[in-house]
Amino acid sequence: MVKTSSAPAKAILVGEHAVVHGQPAIALPLSQLRACVEARESSQPLRVSSSYAGRPPFYWCKEDFQSTDPIKQVIALTARYFALASLQGELIIRSDIPVAGGLGSGAAVSAALARGLARLLNQEIPRDVLNSIVFEVEQLHHGAPSGIDNTVIVYEKPVYYVKDGPSDFIGISRAFTLVVADTGVSAPTRATVADVRAQLEQQPGRTYAIFEQIGALVERSRSAIESGDYRQLGRLMTRNHALLQALDVSSALLDRLVAAALRSGACGAKLSGGGRGGNMIALARPESAASVQDELRRAGAKRVFVSSVGGESIAQ
Ligand code: MEV
Repeated sequence: MVKTSSAPAKAILVGEHAVVHGQPAIALPLSQLRACVEARESSQPLRVSSSYAGRPPFYWCKEDFQSTDPIKQVIALTARYFALASLQGELIIRSDIPVAGGLGSGAAVSAALARGLARLLNQEIPRDVLNSIVFEVEQLHHGAPSGIDNTVIVYEKPVYYVKDGPSDFIGISRAFTLVVADTGVSAPTRATVADVRAQLEQQPGRTYAIFEQIGALVERSRSAIESGDYRQLGRLMTRNHALLQALDVSSALLDRLVAAALRSGACGAKLSGGGRGGNMIALARPESAASVQDELRRAGAKRVFVSSVGGESIAQ
């Protein structure tokens, strides 16, 4: 029997980078874009195959408990949680989420994989346990992550997040439309997070002042979401992009896509995630989403999605 498990992509709405240094941030699940794992029972040693990141299939063996490979780590941590030393069956990973694109592909694959293994064992994995497993593996991907990506992906709810604080899930009172555009440039978050940390060491006063301005606009963004004031939310997103430019994590293409989105009627636009490549997001009125999408393609986006947040649909 085949059982499928999955986890969504995510977008950081506001607050990336500053969140690593203690400021709040808001992230949203992009539920229609997912990593999936098919689990097939068999009496053979566990075989893991993947169309993800072009890696070859492998058979799990007990030496893999010591591996620092993220996929093997997820299996090791999940097997340890269920107190199992040997595993049988087959897991097939598929993901629609671009790798190193700022949409949480690594965390989504980890979450879907741990869920898939649990289903293969006819077990349930509690969300708080899954969240800790994915966070531990995120440290291999990202070095020193804030924990926002694993939280929004595992709980699949919009979250107002402060590192080391309790997660505060927020309701979306009025659905809004996000246009998500992929630069096609892969940009590991580990590198931009390290660069921002270096700036903090070299210019602590300036860098902290930027973090604080980002934190303040995250608070105002939360109020705008709660009151359904999407014009204001859009303005705050665009302001956030300018502060990310000041942290030197934007790129010429990201800036061009942000300008194109604003020109074509978006209420606001910014890079999302680690930056220097990956994805950007634009907040659009439903009636202007199609023209924002067209303009982003013309400006050089490789792939564009429209996602309704707090609603149902996605189009590509
Ligand atoms: C990555 O999605 C968001 C960053 O703030 C890193 C993190 O929070 O771990 C850039």
